[in-house]
Amino acid sequence: MPHPTTATTTAGQVTGIDDERLVHNSVYLDDKLYAHEQRTLLGRVWNFVAHDTDIPQVGDYLTVQVAGNPVLVIRDESGRVNGFYNVCRHRGAQVLEGAGQCSVMRCPYHWWTYDLNGELKGIPGSPAYENTGFVKEKFGLVPIRTESIFGLHFVCVDEKAPSLREFLGPRIIEVLGTPLETVPMEVIHKQEWAVPINWKLVAENQRDGYHVPFVHPIFRSASPASPYEIVDNGHAVQWTKLDYERLPEELKGSTEHALPGFEGGGGYIMTLFPDLICQVRNNYFMISSSVPEGIDRTVVTRRIFGVVGDDEAKRKIRMAAAEATALASYGDEDVPVLMRQRAGLANWTVPHSLIARGQPATEGTRGDDNRLRQWWQYWRDYVGATTNVSPFLEA
Ligand SMILES: [Fe+2]
Repeated sequence: MPHPTTATTTAGQVTGIDDERLVHNSVYLDDKLYAHEQRTLLGRVWNFVAHDTDIPQVGDYLTVQVAGNPVLVIRDESGRVNGFYNVCRHRGAQVLEGAGQCSVMRCPYHWWTYDLNGELKGIPGSPAYENTGFVKEKFGLVPIRTESIFGLHFVCVDEKAPSLREFLGPRIIEVLGTPLETVPMEVIHKQEWAVPINWKLVAENQRDGYHVPFVHPIFRSASPASPYEIVDNGHAVQWTKLDYERLPEELKGSTEHALPGFEGGGGYIMTLFPDLICQVRNNYFMISSSVPEGIDRTVVTRRIFGVVGDDEAKRKIRMAAAEATALASYGDEDVPVLMRQRAGLANWTVPHSLIARGQPATEGTRGDDNRLRQWWQYWRDYVGATTNVSPFLEA
């Protein structure tokens, strides 16, 4: 009897559940899909890159990857924040690295120099370009669409995408205005994790309220399940509540100095499509952004915001709250389970995982998977898939 050429197993097949409540492992494992997502999804949405207080002075800059492209944002002499592709027009080297301050942008390779508006100003040995068709004015740094709201700067690769304000929509702008419009805020701490998992697992974790009482002991009894709203364009707002009475003793002191509008332990976790969180936990604001750096590597950056003018004591209290509920709780609690998830999904015998909790609705309570299904619905639209399977596998 001839042997089959590949192993046959049907043990992990799922039946009786709608496609939209299943996610196929291929979406986390397919290299072709990863490259496709950069162009069809991450290149077509608005990506948060910096807050005003990251680059407060003229010449302050920072660099970041956006949809697989090196990008820089820099403050010019007029105070405006400009975004450019961080690519020298000569031989393509990255002009700036990391973050810092400069009076001109100089590429380290052949010292081509650009001003803060991206115009090409200096070329060593420029007479050699005479009669070659080269025109200096046409070789400035290439700008990337940059738009801002409440001091938050976003960039978008797609020239045809709707504006940032249209992308966010009125409800998100309204919610984000408290606290960003009601009190001046500044970045007081920035922390990074390079997590060896696909970027979508990071994004899904942000919308998964079901894990909270199991993975995060602090919230087990101090954070009762609260309602959420699903908003257009893939965004959602999870309202949160901290029950001070039930907080562990050592954390109670860190809840003072609530931001205006969040007295009594209120807050929210706003998840913006595809992978940004804007969060308030009564006395601090946080933005968590992520940059995919390969199919299996995502760099997560969390910025903690305090109030401009805080004294050292107030800042310490906000940081203690953030450490317990957004920093240590992420690195020590979420990241290890996400790595376990990545390890389990890397198989070809149990091909699906489940996002089936709860009924279709635009509102719900933490623990339902409606927000996850909403996320995947937008994912399918952007990448052109009919189910939550890599379209390259479907073909
Ligand atoms: Fe978590």
